[in-house]
Amino acid sequence: MANKIVFPENFLWGSATASYQIEGAWNKHNKGESIWDRFTHTPGKIKNNDNGDVANDHYRLWKKDIKLMKKLGLKAYRFSISWPRILPAGRGKVNQKGVDFYNHLVDGLLEANITPFATLFHWDLPQVLEDEGGWPVRSTAEAFVEYTDVISRVLGDRVKNWITHNEPSVVAWLGYETGVHAPGKKDLSLSIRAAHHLLLSHGLSVPVIRRNSSNSETGIVLNIGWKVPASNSAIDMELARLDDGRWFRWYSDPVYGRGYPADMVEHFSKLGGLPKGLDFVHSGDMDFIATPTDFIGLNYYSRNLHRADVPENDPQIDFPLPNTPEHWSEMGWENYPDGLMGVLGRVYFDYLPRKIYITENGASYSTPPNENGNIPDVHRINYLRTHFAAANRAIQAGVPLAGYFVWSLMDNFEWAFGYAQRFGIVWVNFETQERILKDSAKWYKTVIKKNGF
Ligand code: FCB
Repeated sequence: MANKIVFPENFLWGSATASYQIEGAWNKHNKGESIWDRFTHTPGKIKNNDNGDVANDHYRLWKKDIKLMKKLGLKAYRFSISWPRILPAGRGKVNQKGVDFYNHLVDGLLEANITPFATLFHWDLPQVLEDEGGWPVRSTAEAFVEYTDVISRVLGDRVKNWITHNEPSVVAWLGYETGVHAPGKKDLSLSIRAAHHLLLSHGLSVPVIRRNSSNSETGIVLNIGWKVPASNSAIDMELARLDDGRWFRWYSDPVYGRGYPADMVEHFSKLGGLPKGLDFVHSGDMDFIATPTDFIGLNYYSRNLHRADVPENDPQIDFPLPNTPEHWSEMGWENYPDGLMGVLGRVYFDYLPRKIYITENGASYSTPPNENGNIPDVHRINYLRTHFAAANRAIQAGVPLAGYFVWSLMDNFEWAFGYAQRFGIVWVNFETQERILKDSAKWYKTVIKKNGF
């Protein structure tokens, strides 16, 4: 049967993981402690007090995992590099064992014909740098540039796709404001400073990567939701605007040369988050941050509806949402594929990036193996199918979407939720480290093969 939905030639079908979520080997071969090691070893921070000490044992089983990727026919694999594995003290002395691991991984991927996409920072900051103040201090951005230089010199001949940061807004807000992620600080003004140094380190690193890795492409990954007011009351619209400002525009506007959005500066000032104004912005910083990139990566999962529960709110639209597992994943996130089309159009027409990748999209469902050893994760298949179709509509509308990374290759350590949430298309038995392809993985394999469905 001919495909109904066809993707452009050379569309890059991939899947993604992150170092802390899969590697384990938290203290092997001279690896330094990361803030996630410290955080997960602190009782009460993570569901069931789970940690990533072993996780998927990928540090040992990486060859097996590349075989899995090959079996699925993946064209690209997005992974992240553990900074404290490369520079246990955050800067200075390089840990050759750590470098070797990523050298082998990259060689293995290339042998399997899988294009590596390396993310430099997916949240596992060396603890020593946190002890010096972490992202809220400028010296961390400087250390990041040193780390970027070290690792892009080593891998730059073979890795040609680089991502500086993954979801800096999650690092800043969840790490330094709400404290539900490492390092668990709770201070708005710290989180705004953290955001600035994350962005600055991104901008400063782009030319370093280009120098060390010829003909490569570099971008940043931002998370984006489809933020919608539940009514056209002023207050609901304001809530949706502020939520988008905090999670997306505070990052996208500076990266695309527009500086920090004025409405959000005002908002954060009112909340007391800018006691000394933007004093942490040094002259020239905003230009560095706006260094042109080759692509933007978007992580999209869900729609966020905003409804204020106050008398002034006069909802004119009602949203009776289906209460089914098909509509809500186990994270409690709404499945809303049209939002993916929405964000793709919005980001493209608003900022005109040269190229876009969906660097993460997927859903948490815990469907276990049945008596035949199969994993009929039909809700995940439905999620992926409807989101792929939405992405395809965006492409038809002119959005330069070049690839799509399903989150995640395999079940793994889901941050504050520990192992209680399973996003993988491959099942992992965390007792035995057995991996089993879920039905979604088998289905994805056919999509990749046919470049559509
Ligand atoms: C994103 C993270 C990723 C994973 C998914 C579910 O925010 O980048 O590591 O946890 O959410």
